[in-house]
Amino acid sequence: MNSSDFPILKEKIYNSDLVYLDNAATTQKPQVVIDAISYAYSHFNANVHRGVHHLSQLATKHHENARKKVGDFLGTDNPSEIIFTKGTTDSINLLAFSLGEEFIKTGDEIVVSALEHHSNIVPWQMLCKRKQARLKVIPLKTDLSIDIDAFKSLLTEKTKIVSIAHVSNVLGIINPIEEIIRIAHSRGILVCVDAAQSAPHLPINVKSIDCDFLAFSAHKIYGPTGVGVLYGKQELLSKIPPYQGGGEMISHVSFDHTTYNELPYKFEAGTPDFIGSFALAKALDYLQEIGVEKVKNHEAELIDYAQAELKKIEGVIIYALSLPKAGVISFNIKDQHPYDVGMLLDQQGVAVRTGHHCAEPLIDLLCVPGTIRLSVALYNSKEDIDKFVSALKKALLLLRK
Ligand code: ALA
Repeated sequence: MNSSDFPILKEKIYNSDLVYLDNAATTQKPQVVIDAISYAYSHFNANVHRGVHHLSQLATKHHENARKKVGDFLGTDNPSEIIFTKGTTDSINLLAFSLGEEFIKTGDEIVVSALEHHSNIVPWQMLCKRKQARLKVIPLKTDLSIDIDAFKSLLTEKTKIVSIAHVSNVLGIINPIEEIIRIAHSRGILVCVDAAQSAPHLPINVKSIDCDFLAFSAHKIYGPTGVGVLYGKQELLSKIPPYQGGGEMISHVSFDHTTYNELPYKFEAGTPDFIGSFALAKALDYLQEIGVEKVKNHEAELIDYAQAELKKIEGVIIYALSLPKAGVISFNIKDQHPYDVGMLLDQQGVAVRTGHHCAEPLIDLLCVPGTIRLSVALYNSKEDIDKFVSALKKALLLLRK
């Protein structure tokens, strides 16, 4: 599907065709996004919200249009609910600080799951340390799905926030976030969704799932690095204090007293990445022109196909085999270190990620040194999976000699 739109896919790696299957780490960029960055620097580079001059007005218009575009992509028509950040990690750190200031006191509880990325663990741990609060962890069932009964029994009147991945970056499992949100809300608990691994693969509507906050990164959805998004319900964003101080986030500053700007600017101290937001909007246009539903089905087919092919190889252990997945398969080969397999795949032009995938608690739970992770994007094809499988077989021949 549309691989010719992505110039990097024509690169040769050690004289082999590139087979890029590390999309959960970052996606490649279509020409329209690469061109957008060059266009922006060539035609409207000026600081946003600060100048009466033409270029500044133009840059501001593009930045604010990008905000509307992101809102539209997530299903909110209120651009004040869209905050531009540096990425998912930055969005969650913002939340952990600002929510923590307003809502967390000594003895309160914050709940995450056992399959979170470090970026949805450590900021909450830091908050717990700052406020003497407690981090609780939803366990997984033996099939590696979230244990919903255990989740319910973890919640107490002290639980204030649940922060959960929509899709696991290690296993690709799609968590039942709507059910989790319903359960949390029935007890008055706020829910933050880490959508870094779902936004590129699944349609998301923040209003219909009713999450309080949601974060994703541009670079994982065909956009540029260094830009991310935090969605938050307006009434909640209005209540919490800013995360960083500086230009743009203020409405008035004196040495005695400072008042803060309105939403969303209260959370955007300093010059925002307005070139990045413009390019992100182009990436979302590109994805929506193809159709998120179509991409979802195409990727689901690739995942099913890859799992079926992997199952035929002796010694392959696929994690969470029976669960619904988006974009990702993690596996290991009996008696082989994932790193050795990854290195031999790389030598044949196949890019996968190996290791703990920034989710050490989950890898510890699996009792392995790491996994081999294959992750797909809209431009991958069955031919890529065939090349990957054949490279894997060659690697195993060498390793098993
Ligand atoms: N979070 C990214 C990954 O899972 C970097 O690879």
